[in-house]
Amino acid sequence: MLWEIEHSQSLVPMMSLPYSKERGACYITGHTLKMRGVGMQARFYVIGTGALLMSLGTLTEASESLGNERNGREIYQMGKGDIPACAGCHAEDGLGLEDMGTPRLAYQVDTYILKQLTDFASDKRQDNTQSVMNDIAKSLSKQDRRDVATYVHSLKTPFIGSDLETLRADGVDVGKPYQGKMIAEYGAPERGIPACQSCHDFHGRSAGRMYPALSGQRYTYLKHELEAFRLGATTSSAKDPMARDNDYHGQMRSVAARLSDEDIANVAAFLTVSSPVSPGNPRSPLRD
Ligand code: HEC
Ligand code: HEC
Repeated sequence: MLWEIEHSQSLVPMMSLPYSKERGACYITGHTLKMRGVGMQARFYVIGTGALLMSLGTLTEASESLGNERNGREIYQMGKGDIPACAGCHAEDGLGLEDMGTPRLAYQVDTYILKQLTDFASDKRQDNTQSVMNDIAKSLSKQDRRDVATYVHSLKTPFIGSDLETLRADGVDVGKPYQGKMIAEYGAPERGIPACQSCHDFHGRSAGRMYPALSGQRYTYLKHELEAFRLGATTSSAKDPMARDNDYHGQMRSVAARLSDEDIANVAAFLTVSSPVSPGNPRSPLRD
């Protein structure tokens, strides 16, 4: 059983904290405290000094599995009524396709997938690659969205990111993974860029129910989303459909706003080929 306690205004992680089943993670925001934790036994850390005002908002309970995996598989592989099969664009194995600009869905956090489908359905997020996802999500029932999120999360295809050499040979402007690694692990404090792993965990392998996995995600898609978030920092998606502004409290927009074109290319190049496990520790953490 998972409890998520959340209430914050604009979330700025002050430091990276380990996240595990036994421990919660905590971030200080201007005047509120945000906590993520699993189970009531979770311990929370309080960092820093000064007056902290704790205001706990909604307390939501997420069930073990969001939906029915079998129904999800059927929709994914065969579509439903007028809804095309997801596999046609996201590939049979769920790894996404570079030339279509589609993301890898396999193994992605189910609650994150569900949130995106809900956001597409309510036009909170615009599909600014092919303009298809909004209609597709609207046609799916709420239960279908849960089912298909459950199914894609269950796909255990190995982490194979984009083939950077092939992309380079095709004339795509590909960044330098070793420079992107610096941003993913340390950020660029002198330019106000936090380490990606402070929210997305080690090499972007995802953290909790809210922070999607980035490792092994497609290069083209990663680059596109970072550009969309950066645009979303200065304009809304209602004004410019190329902008993405569906992130809670503008967390991603405030990060992307500070990234240069070069940073985006570099960090996307690193994340697509990065492995969610560390040397000497071949076990990646269990996903809820
Ligand atoms: C005609 C092609 C096409 C089909 C069919 C399609 N998708 Fe997509 N999907 C896309 C594209 C393109 C994007 C990237 C959208 C963007 O740039 O914002 C996307 C994005 C997504 C995302 C966002 C993932 C993320 O990491 O944020 C989800 C979730 C998703 N699709 C689920 C589905 C499901 C479920 C189905 C089947 C019911 C489906 N898609 C069918 C093209 C398609
Ligand atoms: C303050 C926390 C935070 C930090 C730091 C952060 N992110 Fe995010 N990121 C998020 C959240 C939250 C989302 C999910 C947005 C949503 O719910 O739609 C997200 C989503 C994304 C996505 C979209 C994934 C998808 O499948 O569509 C990308 C790409 C991304 N982040 C890249 C990065 C990179 C690269 C960095 C480091 C430069 C970074 N993030 C740092 C919070 C953060």
